[in-house]
Amino acid sequence: MSALDIVTWYVYLVSSVLFVAGLHFMNSPRTARNGNRISAVGMVIAVVMAVVRLVVSGFVSVTAVVVLAIGVVIGAVAGVVSARRVKMTAMPQLVSVFNTVGGGAAALVALDDILSSAAPSLVVLITAGLGILIGSVTFSGSLIAAGKLQGIRALRSIRLPGKGLWNVVTAVLMLASFVMLCVQPSQAVLWSLLTAGFALVYGLVFVIPIGGADMPVVISVLNACTGTAVAMSGLAIDNVALIVAGALVGAAGTTLSLLMAKAMNRPLHSVLAGGFGAGSGSSSQSAGPEGTMKETTPDDVAVQLVYAEKVIFVPGFGLAQAQAQRELADLGELLRSHGVDVCYAIHPVAGRMPGHMNVLLAEANVPYEELVDLDDVNPRFPSANVALVVGANDVTNPAARRPGTPVSGMPILDVDKAQHVVVMKRGRGRGYAGIENELYFRDNTQMLFGDAKASLQAVIAAVKELLA
Ligand code: TAP
Repeated sequence: MSALDIVTWYVYLVSSVLFVAGLHFMNSPRTARNGNRISAVGMVIAVVMAVVRLVVSGFVSVTAVVVLAIGVVIGAVAGVVSARRVKMTAMPQLVSVFNTVGGGAAALVALDDILSSAAPSLVVLITAGLGILIGSVTFSGSLIAAGKLQGIRALRSIRLPGKGLWNVVTAVLMLASFVMLCVQPSQAVLWSLLTAGFALVYGLVFVIPIGGADMPVVISVLNACTGTAVAMSGLAIDNVALIVAGALVGAAGTTLSLLMAKAMNRPLHSVLAGGFGAGSGSSSQSAGPEGTMKETTPDDVAVQLVYAEKVIFVPGFGLAQAQAQRELADLGELLRSHGVDVCYAIHPVAGRMPGHMNVLLAEANVPYEELVDLDDVNPRFPSANVALVVGANDVTNPAARRPGTPVSGMPILDVDKAQHVVVMKRGRGRGYAGIENELYFRDNTQMLFGDAKASLQAVIAAVKELLA
């Protein structure tokens, strides 16, 4: 081992420790920002070390330095601009695009390792082969997932004939090519290219049939795949920083996928099998719920809120879409100062990503103690005078309690058990799962149509008038 190798090893170890520490700090919203900063420092150290190593070892040509510099500038500008500009509601798409880039990069690093070594060992063939395979699946799968989440209609409407057959055929071809890569190293280039090709197709046919509310879980699974592909590439090129960073992302992504599937009460394998919302009893196919929607006005909502003893706010994706978190927090503050008991019901999959509502309400300085999880808040609904639903749909749909609907089995907030329910949404549009919400047709429910921000502002003004 040369002196440079020893220095590199220690520097990568330091950056790995920073990654672990950063992830630990992300355990709580209070420390999450620092966690991000610490991980970023770890990443900068690792990248600088990689550059120093290349320069000192005289390994790179002038052309390669120019290409690397251009790549770093393009990547840095794209990363900073997208992270600053993207809206919270579009974050899943951004994560998916990052997965595409991460998976593709890991596959290319692994492919290069095989192409550049004259006689790769079995260990290199296995680890680099897995890097190519998993990285390529992640690349194409994440690309489709990002497009679907962005609402590209053409992607949403693609139907593959022979349900599941394509997955099985391409999976067999992909795995067979990988096995051949390991047993026939003399043809390593051919087998690694075939592995990459079949894996790219598998990524497409794996993600295309998955839809509806399952997409965020799929993004998380692909995120875990990116990490695993990076760790495999790290093993292939013997880079400890890549191994640790990849393993952390892989483990965190897997844990998150399992937690999200659990929160939706759906086994992970059934999410990955696809076909969400295509059940024969899908309410989207059947006649709508019985009853009619009753409209209300901001003045009437204000009266209900001011004369209530206990109010539960139920935020959902629409709150994020309207960016109305500050208005909701202001309304809560106003009612609390009038002696009303106010809390926020947080469903684990409300919004479009884990912790979406917590982050949103933290932005508006709502105290963490007022955010109550599903299990703790559900027993409180029967004694609540008013449940104010702001842009939440699927997570309040009582249809989840009976079989045969696309949301069947998903735990819901028992909003319908409150004495009065007020729902703020723009119109009669459906939720993410694409079905009608039976809550809106119940006798104790009233609808306040309009953008959530404008509706909340109108209710706040009416409450102030009543309290003046
Ligand atoms: P959704 O079911 O998507 O409903 C959001 C509602 O907000 C829509 O009905 C929409 O109705 C309304 N809305 C949109 N923009 C609005 C605006 N500017 N002002 C007022 N209302 C607006 O959201 P949810 O109840 O939060 O459920 C989340 C969904 O995502 C679930 O299906 C869940 O399973 C899925 N999911 C989430 C996660 C995570 S981790 N969060 C993970 C997996 C799946 P209008 O169009 O009529 O306004």
